Amino acid sequence: MTKNKNNTSVWNTRIIKSSSLFQKIGSSISFDKRLFKEDIQASIAHVEMLFKKKIITFKVKNKIIFGLNRIRNEIVKKKYKFDSKDEDIHMSIEKRLFEIIGEDAGYVHTARSRNDQVITDLKLWMIKSTNEIIKLLNVSSKLIIKISEKNIYTIMPGFTHLKNAQAVSFSHYMLAYVEMFSRDKIRFKNNLKNLKENPLGVAALTGTSFDIDRNYTTKKLGFINPTRNSIDTVSDRDFVTDFLYSASLCSMHISRLSEEFIIWNSDAYNLIFLNDKIVTGSSIMPQKKNPDPLEYLRGKTGGIYGNLFSMLTILKGLPLSYFKDLQDDKKIVFEAFDNLKNCILVMNEVLSNFSVNKKQMTNLTKQGFITATDLADYFVKQLRYPFRKAYILTAKVINFCEKNKKNLQDLSLKEMQKFEPNIKADVLKVFDLNVSIKSKKSFGGTSFENIKKMIKSYKRDLK
Ligand code: ARG
Repeated sequence: MTKNKNNTSVWNTRIIKSSSLFQKIGSSISFDKRLFKEDIQASIAHVEMLFKKKIITFKVKNKIIFGLNRIRNEIVKKKYKFDSKDEDIHMSIEKRLFEIIGEDAGYVHTARSRNDQVITDLKLWMIKSTNEIIKLLNVSSKLIIKISEKNIYTIMPGFTHLKNAQAVSFSHYMLAYVEMFSRDKIRFKNNLKNLKENPLGVAALTGTSFDIDRNYTTKKLGFINPTRNSIDTVSDRDFVTDFLYSASLCSMHISRLSEEFIIWNSDAYNLIFLNDKIVTGSSIMPQKKNPDPLEYLRGKTGGIYGNLFSMLTILKGLPLSYFKDLQDDKKIVFEAFDNLKNCILVMNEVLSNFSVNKKQMTNLTKQGFITATDLADYFVKQLRYPFRKAYILTAKVINFCEKNKKNLQDLSLKEMQKFEPNIKADVLKVFDLNVSIKSKKSFGGTSFENIKKMIKSYKRDLK
């Protein structure tokens, strides 16, 4: 067996002088070192299986496990030297294992390849990281629910095209984001279902001639079944793109919330205040309090979409099995994960550090005739008008208001009756925003009643 002496590649016997430039640039250790725990976990499961199947001896198995545990300790305690001459975390750990236990280290790579090793590590990391994102999103939802509970009766104009449309409860508005983050969580949870297959044991691409037990490592590593086709297994990075797509959507939701808050916080709208914790100052304008964290959140989405497109592009022209192109999958997915995690953390800080300018919300409801649809509905209900006729009549009333610089609620019954003599005094309550909101009782609508029910149901789901 070839000894793996310091600073020599395992393939040194065959390749005498490969480019030291590429050795450095092509190395992935700077980013894949963060897989060290998963790599050691998978190697331990692998050698336990090799021993169980009598492929290696008890003594060799114990020696390898001893060495691997020591390496883990060294890395955790930052006493480990990551060398860019080592191509990746797998070669680095193998080399160190040789240094610690000698030639028996060479048994660890029996019946496996880095091709199955690297995806096993990455899948294990992905399961852990996906769960982490789900937990953080649960915190976001809880924070939004807390805000919503306090603002059930806070009325604002809902917008379409950013123009005042109809009255809504601020609580209902915010709960829309709980729905979005719930869908994100479902997507991430679905990804977990697809991460249930264990790649370990397919080796380079064909499987192996050793009598291994893939069900054993499957169980040991917490997977559900072994993957079923060795070639697909080493070629597949669907699970990486699934994560990146889910991260992209989640980040897009965060970006929309951020944009919304930026608009609401602008001096023109002034609907929310941001605490000092979530604003930054200007270098020249002493008065400024800028919503930088929100802009950071909006901006990061671009990077995460970029990660998704990088991965999709790397994959599109690759024939099956392993190619070096795939090495970047980790860099891409780590970057997306780090950014998404930071974004959720920052968003959660924002959600805990803003307040609502209820007065300004009320002021804004006075513009844009936001009860016009309620008036049209009144004509349908009380006068049995077809909706289209009611719509036209209402439009005439609005034209009159606009011309005479009046709000709908300023009209007298007499003025109204000029448009339609059958209008009764009860029409006036249509312009009361509380009445308007209460009336939106259809399932999923903004009525206070519905909101209270929804808050209860979200709370149940989040328990
Ligand atoms: N560092 C490599 C990667 O991340 C590990 C797999 C290497 N396999 C190979 N056949 N060169 O993709």
